[in-house]
Amino acid sequence: MVDQVERAGQPEERHDAIEVLSHEDRRFPPPAAFAEQANVNDPAVYERAKADPEAFWAEQAENLTWFKKWDQVLDWDNAPFAKWFVGGKLNIAHNCLDRHVEAGKGNKVAFYWEGEPGDTRTITYSELLKEVCKVSNALKELDVVKGDRVVIYMPMIPELAVTLLACARIGAPHTVVFGGFSADAVRDRINDAQAEIVITADGGYRRGAPSALKPHVDEAIEGAPSIEKVLVVKRTGQDVPMTEGRDFWWDDVVGRQPEQHEPEEMDSEDLLYLLYTSGTTGKPKGIAHTTGGYMVGATYTHRAVFDIKDDDVYWCAADIGWVTGHTYICYAPLANCTTSVMYEGTPFYPEPDRWWDIIERYKVSILYCAPTAIRAHMKEGHQHATGHDLSALRLLGSVGEPINPEAWMWYHRYIGGERCPVVDTWWQTETGSIMISPLPGVTTTKPGSATFALPGIDADIVDDDGKSVPNGRAGYLVIRQPWPSMLRTLYGDPERYEETYWGKFENMYFAGDGAMRDEEGYFWLLGRVDDVMNVSGHRLSTTEIESALVSHDLVAEAAVVGQPDPLTGEAIFAFVILKNRAHPEDQAEFGKVLRDHVAKKISPIAKPKRVMFTPDLPKTRSGKIMRRLLRNIASGQTIGDTTTLADSGVVDLIQEASLSQSDDE
Ligand code: WT7
Repeated sequence: MVDQVERAGQPEERHDAIEVLSHEDRRFPPPAAFAEQANVNDPAVYERAKADPEAFWAEQAENLTWFKKWDQVLDWDNAPFAKWFVGGKLNIAHNCLDRHVEAGKGNKVAFYWEGEPGDTRTITYSELLKEVCKVSNALKELDVVKGDRVVIYMPMIPELAVTLLACARIGAPHTVVFGGFSADAVRDRINDAQAEIVITADGGYRRGAPSALKPHVDEAIEGAPSIEKVLVVKRTGQDVPMTEGRDFWWDDVVGRQPEQHEPEEMDSEDLLYLLYTSGTTGKPKGIAHTTGGYMVGATYTHRAVFDIKDDDVYWCAADIGWVTGHTYICYAPLANCTTSVMYEGTPFYPEPDRWWDIIERYKVSILYCAPTAIRAHMKEGHQHATGHDLSALRLLGSVGEPINPEAWMWYHRYIGGERCPVVDTWWQTETGSIMISPLPGVTTTKPGSATFALPGIDADIVDDDGKSVPNGRAGYLVIRQPWPSMLRTLYGDPERYEETYWGKFENMYFAGDGAMRDEEGYFWLLGRVDDVMNVSGHRLSTTEIESALVSHDLVAEAAVVGQPDPLTGEAIFAFVILKNRAHPEDQAEFGKVLRDHVAKKISPIAKPKRVMFTPDLPKTRSGKIMRRLLRNIASGQTIGDTTTLADSGVVDLIQEASLSQSDDE
């Protein structure tokens, strides 16, 4: 510990928001051939954007088709309430579809869709446009008009993307509720958005079986009096009750519509969608994204970070139910006229190689997924991937959590064949599009670092007083200037918006993450500051300790939390998932091995006091570990609210696993 403090060359009494313990020397410059062909390969772009961010963003906005050009790039007079491309008029569905068809690209494939049972559909841009027009007309028949909020609760089927686009086309803001959420979540969102219509399906396929959605909607509506109509796609064919006069089958209503529809002229600042994220307490927050700026941020980052080319086959393996899917499955790829893969189901059905099989068959060239998925594949073993021809891949991306350096290396080696740049992209539902990420043709990457803020983004790290901290020190990640795809407010609660995001530091956006910049200015995300543990006065981030655990050859995944401790304030409690091939004879003994491994890898102060082996971890549906639940388990408290938990059986599994903890104190 003394050693750590001395190495940083700081006086011992300093009180950092978070301490930094780890160090990474591996670096990966962009392969020359990649850099040469990259959409962005001139590092001068950073300086250019910094010198005049508004001019930079205006230049990116030129890539969209506007019915009327904006009068003003940014209006920030009423900060933190931003307006971008003020006075501009456009329609997003028109940008995603009509203009490509008009440009002669109607026969280009928009989606190669694959259902979990193995059924497939190939949808071209002109087919997608026709379908979107029909649904736009259907919504009109169902009395949905510009400004009405539409709640969407669907599996990952093409009709989901079609519905988003139809909403955008008629100017009805959508709010997608992830298909894995409960009736309660649907009800809360309907009520907050005061929606009059829900669009759903009978069910969807997950883990090899049909799972029902429509009954959840029926249950939700019991406490959601604003709903007047329900439109239901037939996906699984399972029996679902239909209420006469309220519920309509998609095929009936959409089937009879004309294939033409004039897109609504939307204002740049018209609401495009609401997406709810669970706050730490109470009521979910309705993150509000508008039209012009969101689209500019989405399309620019998609082109720059994923280096999208006309012949790429791009696969963002997220769900449209969360922001990654909104921005990087639906809006940005379509606006950039990309061919995408869309997959309905779970990664390991029917076999652990499902993903790699998809990549081989569709010749996927760009893959974007979450560290949680990468670690789950590591757990199964790389043999499932290396048995497939993944040679079409040329770029890999990661999002959602800090990617542990060992997971990054595994991804790079076994999936990317050591030839594909890896882009670790940091952003949030609130930011709308990627904020911190390598530019694959410019940036030398380091495993585990999201590297640098993108051109036009002004990110910094500050201490408790809001002062920038020097390189090598950790603190709070903030954004100092507005950016086009930023959230505009929290729906119906502007005060909460101001207070939550702009209230901690003056004139800075702060949304909860800790981070540090190393000596070369690379950003390292350190997890949520709410998760920081205080051990004997040392403020430790979860990320580094988890990465140290994952760096052990037999560990697939780890989550650490603070547990109240009479001696040290908090003690580190580690939950560990082992790889399938690991079969330690003596778990208590192996727990000690791991504890020592962490001590050696980063520092004795980071050594977990307890290690619990568990078959699974509680995660949200977007793959984030729910450390709050783990803290409660570790401190023996009641579990509390589990509504956003992906699989509620996990908590029982972990509680059963508690007997095998190793505790040699
Ligand atoms: C939070 C936002 C952005 C779409 C997916 C999640 C964490 C996200 C990274 C990354 C480290 C990351 C942060 C952030 N996060 N990407 N590359 N490295 N942390 O959206 O559900 O709004 O979550 O996810 O903690 O604040 P979200």
